[in-house]
Amino acid sequence: MTASGSNRRWPRVPGIAFGGDYNPEQWPEDIWAEDIALMGEAGVSMVTVGVFSWALLEPAEGSYDFGWLDRVMDLLAAADIGVDLATATASPPPWFSHRYPESLPVTREGHRVWQGGRQAYCPSSTAYRAASTALAGALANRYATHPALAMWHVNNEYGCHTAECFCDVSAAVFRRWLRERYGDLDRLNEAWGTAFWSQHYYSFDEVIPPRLTPTWGNPTQNLDWKRFCSDELLACFIAERDVLRAVTPELPITTNFMGAFKPVDYFSWAPHEDIVSDDHYIVGADPANHVRLSMSADLMRSVGGGNPWILMEQSTSAVNWQPRNLAKAPGQLKRNSLQHVARGADAVCFFQWRASRRGAEKFHSGMLPHAGTDTRVWREVTALGADLKRLAEVAGSRVESDVAIVWDWPAWWAVELDSHPSIDVRYLDLVRATYEAFWHLDVTIDFVRPDADLSAYKVVGVPSLYLVSDSAAANLTRYVEAGGHLVCNFFSGIVDPNDAVWLGGYPGAFRQLLGVRVEEFYPLLEHQTVTLADGGSGGVWTEMLTPVGAQVVTTYVDGPLPGWPAVTRRDVGAGVAHYVTTFLDAPSTQRLLHGICHAAGVATRSPKTESWAPIIEAAGVETIRRRGDGASYLFVINHTDREVDVPATGVELLSGTPATDSVHVAAGGVAVVREAATAVAG
Ligand code: GLA
Ligand code: GLA
Repeated sequence: MTASGSNRRWPRVPGIAFGGDYNPEQWPEDIWAEDIALMGEAGVSMVTVGVFSWALLEPAEGSYDFGWLDRVMDLLAAADIGVDLATATASPPPWFSHRYPESLPVTREGHRVWQGGRQAYCPSSTAYRAASTALAGALANRYATHPALAMWHVNNEYGCHTAECFCDVSAAVFRRWLRERYGDLDRLNEAWGTAFWSQHYYSFDEVIPPRLTPTWGNPTQNLDWKRFCSDELLACFIAERDVLRAVTPELPITTNFMGAFKPVDYFSWAPHEDIVSDDHYIVGADPANHVRLSMSADLMRSVGGGNPWILMEQSTSAVNWQPRNLAKAPGQLKRNSLQHVARGADAVCFFQWRASRRGAEKFHSGMLPHAGTDTRVWREVTALGADLKRLAEVAGSRVESDVAIVWDWPAWWAVELDSHPSIDVRYLDLVRATYEAFWHLDVTIDFVRPDADLSAYKVVGVPSLYLVSDSAAANLTRYVEAGGHLVCNFFSGIVDPNDAVWLGGYPGAFRQLLGVRVEEFYPLLEHQTVTLADGGSGGVWTEMLTPVGAQVVTTYVDGPLPGWPAVTRRDVGAGVAHYVTTFLDAPSTQRLLHGICHAAGVATRSPKTESWAPIIEAAGVETIRRRGDGASYLFVINHTDREVDVPATGVELLSGTPATDSVHVAAGGVAVVREAATAVAG
């Protein structure tokens, strides 16, 4: 099966696409032929062109200059390299900001943000919306039938720098959005709880964005603002997409996401595009950056419903925007790239083809470094291109997983609103801790919305789902009743979608499912830890819990609540619901999740027994399975400095050698085994 064989749109690029952002306008034209020749050498099959070309494509309003782009497109077509053509709307030119100064974004504090960097536009600006759709339309008409055109790349990283604008135009559009959401002011007043602090509105004209206030602004106003800002950027995307779709209905359209990016709800965005694409950059200083990479890749696959997706950008080596920009170690590029492929990417692309000579990103690595082709980076890039060709048959297969983590952007926005019990409850910390424990157990994760169909999963993790609707809570309850194993963390089920507390004791929405009643939170001091009776350890949070049907798994030995329950479990129907009232440390989380996986019949790295020993030390080898029509592929990615042998039978595709019973993977290496039919059946 290939992705193009499914009913989704996929660019006409064979196998696993390989390439990057190509910015020929930054170079004299006589270099382009060399670019194309070297792309051929590296095995590049697709490049993204024009992302920041607006100023050159439209020198004056409504007058376009496509000459240089025509020549680039023709060169690429002749070399059989597909183009992911950008609509070039990510950075309005200076003439535009000069002519439409009201299109420049305004910060919460009321400061105008100027052109001179990039992304200096208000998402609600009518001038911007008109100019960007006009440019998209002009590009679509110009290149609709061009043989190089493989797909459309709308804008770039929506919200990356300008996720919100507090200007008067935005305020008016926000009011319109609120009218649609609430219908009338009474419902808005009720939802926002405006009886509090004399905030009652008598006219929509009085409603404004959550601009700088003397003290905490209305939380629901802030929450709705985040919803609005995500929707407003989506409206920018949809406006351009519709223009493109009208001209080239058969071509796939994407915009590049940024993984766990807070301002934009990718679950609600993804259904509006044909292919999910993502930009992922590791943080060099983070020793767990390879785990974060896997998490981001799993999230991006998940928002796209498990379909193959495009890794649109990563770096070949250093970036330019971290405090200290570490070069990648030898072999890291291959491991990182194939981690993405293992987790469902059918394209591996980079920012950017040729490292820039000028501008703010000149110290950002490229596929072709400043030092040229006699470089480690170039050799690793060309080797990667060759490796991806060997994996062509993997394209279109899908990742297997029987464990999910609930992920919800509105819950993220809400849990991090201010004036909460503890500033140490940060959504990503909780999700990452849960993900990381599963990662060390070598369990592949899907991310799911709280209202998703969960029937495919044996275990579901619910990290701090502070905001939850009653229907989503009912969905999670049904999941457990039907035999699911659920593990829920503290500060979940606290408020409804309007940020109003579910009453009667915490965790309101999940009280019955979990069989507990919490009357008071006891957050801990920074760095304070508590000991649990089972030897585990926690931090950040504790709470005064009384079981109401749940069994106590372990209790607190010390801290504010010695003797009180720390972890509980309740048998519900055919399933089990666990509740964890503190931020367990990594070994304690692993132990808990190992036990739950064991009970639920999920295979983990550790022996299939209930005995358990921390495996963090031994971990570092990922195995992920992608399954297509009639074939399954086992990816083994060895992040350790030791060679390993992993059970597998079939053919190792990167080396073309048979694997009998096991595959040998060098320290820091990768193996991809097309599994023999018997192994697949097992
Ligand atoms: C002050 C204010 C009250 C309330 C409390 C909260 O005392 O007067 O309205 O906000 O702080 O601690
Ligand atoms: C983002 C942008 C690119 C480039 C890279 C640098 O991903 O989309 O244009 O700025 O960051 O890492």
